[in-house]
Amino acid sequence: MRENILTLGIETSCDETAVAIVEGRHTVLSSIVSSQTAIHAKYGGVVPELACRSHLETIQPMVSEALAKAGVTLDDIGLVAVTRGPGLVGAVLVGLSYAKSLAWGRDLPLVGVNHLEGHIMSAFIHNPGLATPSVALLVSGGHTELFWMERFGELTRLGGTRDDAAGEAFDKGAKMLGLGYPGGPVIEKLASEGIDKFDIPVGMARSNTLDFSFSGVKTAVKYLVNNLRKSEGEIPVNDVCASFQRSVIKALETKTGMAIERYGPASIIVAGGVACNSALRKSMHNLGERERVDVVIPPPRLCTDNAAMIAAAGANLYLNNPKDKKWADYLSMDADPSWMPGRPLDAPEP
Ligand code: KG4
Ligand code: ZN
Repeated sequence: MRENILTLGIETSCDETAVAIVEGRHTVLSSIVSSQTAIHAKYGGVVPELACRSHLETIQPMVSEALAKAGVTLDDIGLVAVTRGPGLVGAVLVGLSYAKSLAWGRDLPLVGVNHLEGHIMSAFIHNPGLATPSVALLVSGGHTELFWMERFGELTRLGGTRDDAAGEAFDKGAKMLGLGYPGGPVIEKLASEGIDKFDIPVGMARSNTLDFSFSGVKTAVKYLVNNLRKSEGEIPVNDVCASFQRSVIKALETKTGMAIERYGPASIIVAGGVACNSALRKSMHNLGERERVDVVIPPPRLCTDNAAMIAAAGANLYLNNPKDKKWADYLSMDADPSWMPGRPLDAPEP
C-alpha cells in the first residue's frame, strides 16, 4: 500500500462544512472550512434543518476548491474518509451520503471516522512524533471526555461529562449574559479583562471519579446574575466571565491531573474547540510541567471542527490495516449520531 496515498476528508457533523486533502498519514495539502455561525447566531444555537441545507449547498463546491488548493484532481485521490458520528444525524448523513457516492463512483475505499477520534488525530497532525500512551482530554461543544490512548485508534474511556459539555457551558453561559453564540471566544476575551472575584463552584471537584459536571456552574451563573441585577442594577460581565472561566478550567485541570496520577501517561493531548481557549492551554501546559509530562495541544485552526483531522484519522486507520474488507464494503454504513469511541474502563480486554 502506498504510504503517501492522498485522502479526501469530509466533515459535516455539526455546523461546519469542511473538506481537506491529506497526503500519507499527517501531511495536510489543503483544508477548508465553511462555518455556518452566521446562519445560526440569531437562534442562539445550531438549528439542525438549517445546518443540513447549508451542508448540501456547500459540499460540492468545497470539494472542488479543496482539490484545486492542493493542486490535485479526483484522479489522484486514493481514499475517502468521512465523519460517521457522533453529531447531528441529518448533518452527518449529508457528508456520509456524498462520500459514499463519490467513493462508489470512483471505486475508492472509504473509511467512516469517529469525529472524536478525529479531534484526537489533530494532535498528531501538529506533532506526528507525539509519545504514547496518552491521556486525551477532548473538550468541544458536544463532548467533554477523558480517554486513555495506548496508540492511535486504541482508546479506553476514563470519564466524561454527566450533563453539559464544557463548550456547551460556555455557550449557555454566554447566552445568559447576552453575549451571543458561540460563547467560548467572547467569554475568553471578556474574562481576560475581568477580575475573578465571584465564588462559582467547581463541578464534581470532590468526586473521586474522572467524570465532569457543568450544569451546576450554569445554575450558579444564573443566580449570580439575578442577584447582581437586583442588588447592583448592572452586571460586571467581565468579572462574571473571569470567575465562570476559572471554574470550568479548574474542573478540566483537576480531572486531567487525577488521570495523570492514576495512569502515568507519556503525554497529554488536549483537543476540541474549547482547546482554543488560551487560559485552558496555559493551565494544561502548567499541569504538564508540574507532572513532567509532554503536553500536545494543536493550534486553534486544528482544534475547531475541520476535515484535515478526519482525513488523517481515516488514512491512519486504513494504512494500519489496508487489507481489511470493510474499507470496500461500505454501502450499508449508516450514520451513528451517538457513537462513543473506545471501550469503557471496566470492559474486559477484547
Ligand atoms: O470542536 P468544536 O468546533 O465543535 C464540536 O465538535 O462541538 O467546538 C465548538 C465549541 C463551542 O462550544 C465553542 O463555544 C467552543 O468550542 N470554543 C471555545 C473557544 N473557542 C471555541 N470555548 C472556550 N474558549 C474558546 N476560545
Ligand atoms: Zn468537533
